[in-house]
Amino acid sequence: MAEPPAYPVGLRLPGRRVVVLGGGQVAQRRLPALIAAGADIVLVSPEVTPSVEAMADAGEIAWERRPYAEGDLAEAWYALIATSDPEANAQASAEAERHRVWCVRSDDADQATAWTPATGHSEGVTVAVLTTDARGRDPRHTAAIRDAVVEGLRDGTLVAPHHRTRTPGVALVGGGPGDPDLITVRGRRLLAEADVVIADRLGPRDLLAELPPHVEVIDAAKIPYGRYMAQEAINNALIEHAKQGKSVVRLKGGDPYVFGRGMEELQALAEAGIPCTVVPGISSSISVPGAAGIPVTHRGVAHEFTVVSGHVAPDDERSLVDWPSLAKLTGTLVILMGVDKIGKIAETLVAHGKSPGTPVALVQEGTTAAQRRVDATLATVAETVRAAEVKPPAVIVIGEVVKVGPEPAA
Ligand SMILES: C[S@@+](CC[C@H](N)C(=O)[O-])C[C@H]1O[C@@H](n2cnc3c(N)ncnc32)[C@H](O)[C@@H]1O
Repeated sequence: MAEPPAYPVGLRLPGRRVVVLGGGQVAQRRLPALIAAGADIVLVSPEVTPSVEAMADAGEIAWERRPYAEGDLAEAWYALIATSDPEANAQASAEAERHRVWCVRSDDADQATAWTPATGHSEGVTVAVLTTDARGRDPRHTAAIRDAVVEGLRDGTLVAPHHRTRTPGVALVGGGPGDPDLITVRGRRLLAEADVVIADRLGPRDLLAELPPHVEVIDAAKIPYGRYMAQEAINNALIEHAKQGKSVVRLKGGDPYVFGRGMEELQALAEAGIPCTVVPGISSSISVPGAAGIPVTHRGVAHEFTVVSGHVAPDDERSLVDWPSLAKLTGTLVILMGVDKIGKIAETLVAHGKSPGTPVALVQEGTTAAQRRVDATLATVAETVRAAEVKPPAVIVIGEVVKVGPEPAA
């Protein structure tokens, strides 16, 4: 007949006597959790490992330097029996039974009255995994289940929304360049807990498909109004949903503060008295070149990189960029939103002294399945973009770093 399953329970140990017999590797592994639980720990062992000794020196445990003796378990609430002497272990466990002290045995799970689960912690919960009977014990399997649950909770792949402690408000989440694996752990968790997600055209859009059906997904690119009204409409949508007590995630491409208008949204929310957290993201300015084999710096080649917006042409009066100074830099120039204006940009850089032969790479839709890289020089880039039909979104890299990696695949 199958053995009944073990009954799981959480022991509240502050100030309660816990006796540990043996000071070897098992004790060393188990003691930190007992210390963290606030137990009043007495360790009985003639010898201990250096780590256990350090715990005794720090006053975290009381160490009695001697072998186990009858009576050691009389006052205990809980015991861990882990000496290297099987006879002493058997005697101690018989004593524990007489005194009705729950005890774990490192050498014989069958004889133990308690088992230690594989445990892990995430966001205020303890995950503890036990096998159902002694014969089926497989510590690696329970540890793997524990890891899967804890990792899943941390990275949001396991959706377990908070219901009591969740605070409504807005999170501006940098979603990274597009590959769904390149969002931060915190970003992914907030996304998993959201009631409403307002998403940009760029960023990890695949993650939206994984959201549960009750989550309202608003496509920021489709909010009506003209180009400049759109931001106000997005701000209003954030404020209105947050005011209804919902958890709102504003999912943005890359990092919210790199040409992402993140601060404008934060300011609008602050004015409306809405709490807002900002979660950084991996910016396309570094990760997209990297995904195409281009390091933005390289020893002996580039000691600086400058990230520039190319959304207005160099001769446009709205431009805040000092192109003549950029032309004099020896490091890497990374241009975002510059596909349409690259002809004018290349011309201006050359006019102010940059060599026409300076290598240029355009990386379109980096980190996604559609990623492609097109190489040129400042002299040829305008024509290359036309001929190869390079389209936004693309990151443009100008400088010798373009050449340092292995030849890009054709
Ligand atoms: C409005 S900016 C936002 C940048 C974003 N906040 C960041 O940190 O990556 C948009 C520009 O970022 C670049 N971009 C973003 N994601 C990209 C990707 N996956 N591949 C190529 N370029 C990308 C393009 O230059 C695009 O025009």
